[in-house]
Amino acid sequence: MKLLEGKVVIVTGAGGGIGRDFALAMAAEGAKVVVNDLGSSVAGEGKDAGPAQKVVEEIKAKGGAAVASTDSVADWEAANRIVKTALDAFGRVDCVVNNAGILRDRFFFNMSVEEWRSVIDVHLNGSFYVARAAAPYFKSQNSGCYVNMTSTSGLIGNFGQANYAAAKLGIIGLSKSMALDMAKYHVRSNCIAPFAWSRMIGTIPSDTPEQQARLEKIKRMDTAKIAPLAVYLASDLAEGVTGQIFGVRANEIFLFSQNRPLRSVHRAGGWTPEAIAEQAIPAMRAHFYPLDRSQDVFSWDPI
Ligand code: NAI
Repeated sequence: MKLLEGKVVIVTGAGGGIGRDFALAMAAEGAKVVVNDLGSSVAGEGKDAGPAQKVVEEIKAKGGAAVASTDSVADWEAANRIVKTALDAFGRVDCVVNNAGILRDRFFFNMSVEEWRSVIDVHLNGSFYVARAAAPYFKSQNSGCYVNMTSTSGLIGNFGQANYAAAKLGIIGLSKSMALDMAKYHVRSNCIAPFAWSRMIGTIPSDTPEQQARLEKIKRMDTAKIAPLAVYLASDLAEGVTGQIFGVRANEIFLFSQNRPLRSVHRAGGWTPEAIAEQAIPAMRAHFYPLDRSQDVFSWDPI
């Protein structure tokens, strides 16, 4: 028996990149797949029904079952149509993979309200909309799961991505909340922070030799390497695995930490700003985090 036999999976942003590999791998494991993709540019502009339809044809050519959806995740009504597509075509829904994404990189001090809003809309609001639209079905069938794509740009940091970092860290909070609120209905929710060469990463500037060298390394990270973890999380093998944040980079899989108090200081008579400067901060400073970016923490070559 295949791992996802009988399951219906919605993969958003599945017309290319990581999402396409998710859709192909899920279908190969027996899932019936809603291949959702607006077919926009990396910046979220335009529409094209071609990418989603092409992936559907690839799945069908291999004997799998799939249906295309070109609705935008960034709109509540459209997100409901994505879930309805699964119900109309296959009669149920078992897993939502929140993968659709865009980039509008700009240094914070220059970022426009439109650049901020559009990225929050697709990543954070879009993940909520599609997940929320599926929630009543998960609740009534007493099963279901969410796989949400996050990023080390949010977990750690990066230049010029205030919109994206905020959205991707927001998705961590959303995923944990879905895991907590839906645990009693046996619904699981987890995050994956991927590292892979896709058209999205192709927008990273490569003006300097250092940037070019870094890009060459990223090119070695295949999008298909992320799919086994997503398939696992969507399957019944992952029973009991919920509320976690994983990472995948080529042949490495990571489990990320989650925020807990690191150090505490107590002063019997309470604190003044001066006492904080004299005692609390010196006591805690050794534990401060440097202004790291993702590449400072992932400082070794992908394995
Ligand atoms: P990609 O650009 O190849 O794929 C994103 C897809 O989402 C595109 O096909 C696009 O048409 C679709 N999309 C955009 N807006 C949409 C909307 N409103 N509704 C439906 N579909 C929409 O990028 P990639 O790299 O495959 O990214 C997949 C996910 O992984 C994203 O959430 C991204 O933020 C995340 N990610 C990727 C990393 C990487 O190294 N490639 C690193 C960290 C996170």
